[in-house]
Amino acid sequence: MAVSRRELLKLGLLATPGMSLAQLAEAQIKDPGSPPVFPFTRALPIPPVLTPGGGPPSQDSYTITMQQGMANILGTRPTPVWTYNGMYPGPTIRARANRQVNIRQINNLSESMSVHLHGGHAPASSDGHPTDLIAPGGQKDYTYPNQQLPATLWYHDHAVDLTGPHIYMGLSGFYIMSDTLEDNLNLPGPGPSTPFGNDIPLLIQDRLFNTSGSLSYPMTDDALVRGVLGDKMVVNGVVQPFFRVPRRKVRFRLLNGANARIFDFALSNGQQFIQIGSDGGLLSAPAPRSVIRLGPAERADVVIDFSSLNLGTQITLRNLNRMVPHSLDRAPRDIMRFEVDRNETDTSVVPATLRPVVPLGTEVRTRDFILTRGVLNGRVVWFINGLLFDDARIDANPTIGDIEIWRFINNSNVSHPMHIHLVQFQILDINGVPPGPGENGWKDTVIVPPNGVLARVKARFTDFTGTFVFHCHTLEHEDHAMMAQFSVTP
Ligand code: C2O
Ligand code: CU
Repeated sequence: MAVSRRELLKLGLLATPGMSLAQLAEAQIKDPGSPPVFPFTRALPIPPVLTPGGGPPSQDSYTITMQQGMANILGTRPTPVWTYNGMYPGPTIRARANRQVNIRQINNLSESMSVHLHGGHAPASSDGHPTDLIAPGGQKDYTYPNQQLPATLWYHDHAVDLTGPHIYMGLSGFYIMSDTLEDNLNLPGPGPSTPFGNDIPLLIQDRLFNTSGSLSYPMTDDALVRGVLGDKMVVNGVVQPFFRVPRRKVRFRLLNGANARIFDFALSNGQQFIQIGSDGGLLSAPAPRSVIRLGPAERADVVIDFSSLNLGTQITLRNLNRMVPHSLDRAPRDIMRFEVDRNETDTSVVPATLRPVVPLGTEVRTRDFILTRGVLNGRVVWFINGLLFDDARIDANPTIGDIEIWRFINNSNVSHPMHIHLVQFQILDINGVPPGPGENGWKDTVIVPPNGVLARVKARFTDFTGTFVFHCHTLEHEDHAMMAQFSVTP
């Protein structure tokens, strides 16, 4: 098999000087850590909204510095983290549809970084391509036109080969977009409780820790197959927090920010979520759901109605899914606890019609992407159509404006949450079964289940030409090179 220069580089990756995190990961393979935690003893933090400043009045401009920080994740000992503006999670950006956001990203960390706005529809030069790196000490200006449907987006590191350890170290934050149509729906939102009202983003991640409190990122052969799975549940940067809620409807934006874990979210009292949005924005209509499955990078916008619960009631947000093999999954079931502690007037509604999701038109072509596992130099690698990521190769080249069907065929025994940059797509079917309520909205990531399952998605490649990536969002698969490029041509 011909091995490209890029693949040779990858073969040498773990031994390359300067790849300190990867070497660290190797050194942490056997870690007895798992420091004690005390569930539901610390309040849920809500990442503060960044205030724009400078720049043209018709746009919102920000400066963010990537830097080391200390986080109190465990409550018993501090954790060194990598942050945006010193915070883990990073500060929240609030954007309006069709109003441009500019972000200057300054890299004060020791490794090269690339910042990707996940779910964003942005020019290639601002997309955070994995090889469009900001060197330590450098900076880059990203522009986001926000000419897209409002949605819960997130920004995170995307440095080639090292996205897994970088996000694991803390580099992610919310980017929440809205518009007038959504404002006028009168969904639960701003209210008297907190500056954030009753619209709460939840970044949900699992992590492993060393005894000292530092993060452990074991790059075992097993982790190359299943991804790095933690034994602690962390929400907005705190292990198993509690959150005091009013007796009313509250909106939560669930984001699976884990490297590899697939969650089945459920409430401990059996109550249903009312799902109102998916990755790319509002659903056509609210979908009541008892269990919501989210793979890495997927989002679900939900309303939980606490109004029928008595004051003092406590319910937990749970994960019902176990990763296989189950014996290796040491994560607790409980993610966080809601405590109903006050009455509050609720004039919000969940209307029967949200924002119609209009089916895309007829495709001009269909492309197939076959997902398989392999071994290279004694280590597990992941292929798309038999190839590892190579930034010198273009794997698909839609013409601007084209509608295409992409078929992902999973010929391996683990799931792959496949993510396409630039677009929001519609899932047509998974093994012939059309998506159910909650899955039938705009998506940018789709779980392709194992063992020969075929997922079909349809997308329109509009507005921006240039080179973008698509990849598995199990970050250890992505870094071990389950990623490819498409070029949108004029
Ligand atoms: Cu969330 Cu290419 O990434
Ligand atoms: Cu994968």
